[in-house]
Amino acid sequence: MRAYGYGDGSGSSSAGGAAAPFISRRGADLRYSSYDVLVVGGGIAGLTAALGAAHRWNVGLITKGSLDQTTTFLAQGGIAAAMSPHDSPKLHLKDTLEAGVGLCDDEAVRVLVEEGPARIRELEQLGTKFDRREGKLILGKEGAHSMARVVHAGGDATGSVVASSLAEVITKGGRVELHENEFVIDLLMDGGRCVGAVSLGAEGELTVSLARAVVLACGGAGQVYSRTTNPLMATGDGHAMAYRAGAVMRDMEFMQFHPTAYYGKENPTLLVTEALRGEGAYLLDDAGCRFMVGAHPQAELAPRDVVVRHMRRVCDRDGSEHVWLDARHLDAAFLRERFPTVLNGLKKRGFDLCGQLIPVAPASHYFIGGVLTDTWGRSTVPGLYACGETSSTGIHGANRLASNSLLEGLVFGERTVRELNRYLAVADPAVRKVRLDLADEVREGNAPGAVAEGRATVQRTMTDLCGVVRNAPELTRAQETLAALQASLAAPGLSVAELELFNLLTVAEHMVAAALLREESRGVHLRSDFPERDDAGWRRHSLIHRDLETGGLVVEAGPVAD
Ligand code: SIN
Repeated sequence: MRAYGYGDGSGSSSAGGAAAPFISRRGADLRYSSYDVLVVGGGIAGLTAALGAAHRWNVGLITKGSLDQTTTFLAQGGIAAAMSPHDSPKLHLKDTLEAGVGLCDDEAVRVLVEEGPARIRELEQLGTKFDRREGKLILGKEGAHSMARVVHAGGDATGSVVASSLAEVITKGGRVELHENEFVIDLLMDGGRCVGAVSLGAEGELTVSLARAVVLACGGAGQVYSRTTNPLMATGDGHAMAYRAGAVMRDMEFMQFHPTAYYGKENPTLLVTEALRGEGAYLLDDAGCRFMVGAHPQAELAPRDVVVRHMRRVCDRDGSEHVWLDARHLDAAFLRERFPTVLNGLKKRGFDLCGQLIPVAPASHYFIGGVLTDTWGRSTVPGLYACGETSSTGIHGANRLASNSLLEGLVFGERTVRELNRYLAVADPAVRKVRLDLADEVREGNAPGAVAEGRATVQRTMTDLCGVVRNAPELTRAQETLAALQASLAAPGLSVAELELFNLLTVAEHMVAAALLREESRGVHLRSDFPERDDAGWRRHSLIHRDLETGGLVVEAGPVAD
């Protein structure tokens, strides 16, 4: 295993040169912008980074949809932090490490839990109204937390409340140049350093944005699967473009499935927040038995990976595709006030949370794998930063603790700003040259029908062959199917759907390769052919990077930092 350096280029895997941008310029207008900091992504991590950096620097923020279409906006449960006098960062640390099943980076988790409370207070100062009773924050309980520590807003509308308050500051403040509905195609590289990005606007125009530093905060990749709580735009764009630029990716086998997503065929499907189980809702099998009682000391509030495994066992036993969530014994007025999003969402689907059993099944929810960063957001590529779900700081180990992800966006978004302040104050101040490897031929690309079918093939393949339970023969079949799909496609033209498909394919390929490498079961990674956890062999991370000479995928294992 080679040593990877962060950001300063020492030991960097990007030293060999730039990946060719993924585009053809023929027939498209080219525009130019220039920033100190370019942030890609408009969820909690991107908004936090952009707002913070704009105090000192000229900042651009590009997001592929609008600010109310992010994964953050859909978040329900809340933000975990030691805000109660009975709680402490130490207890939050302990719960996070236990949920992470031996793969957390202890130092990164310490940073998360110690800095979290201050970030939440700052959010309140910015205008976010968290739910309070008699002036005190109301704290919810979720799986694997030893106490109630989840702050929430609008009952179960935390994501939209937080995102709206940050978005309001961004849009009214005028300090960040905001570009919504703009798809970043690829990063621009010069001599191994990231110097900006190329993006595609809604009218088909291309923009070359030069930047002294780029922050990827593009969210996750739930759309790799057929059933997901993530919005349609969670297609792993940040992961894929960082990989193409030479960044090291870590733990790509770990996709967290949320146990209780409404069992429906729509994409995305409705999340039925874990906070409901925190308030006492049950999980029942077809016979009406609480199957988590006796299966784990915390019953329905066991860590997410444990609940999903038992749901899977029960469904296999009963020949069923879902289990039931039961909130009928909870006070209806309380449910209406505390869970308006879930209640109304279910009502639209013909279900009454207060009086009926709700069919629920796991759905892809949070991508633990990501761009390897240190605790300051620095990737292994100079000039390239990542935070939030796009990054892998090591705080989640092999299974993320509930409601640690909005916290992650806040804490590491802010730390990325502090690091940018250092880097931009001393680093080479200007981008002096950039070579645009734009292909000159007209690319026909792929027909829309083929692109839609390709996306469905990726989702079906990953759901069937690299889902909650994996094994070597099925993962090998997944690899072959993805490779055949890739080979059947022409190079992408300038369409978002095509570019997303190529990003989904890249991320799926990484997930399968890392899942094949890890020959054990740990956290959210369950191998039927290696059912035991193997600390001696596998208390290690999986690492992936692109060989910049051959273009090939390099997969290897690396040590865990204690
Ligand atoms: C939920 O509300 O259940 C989701 C919270 C999370 O994913 O952390």
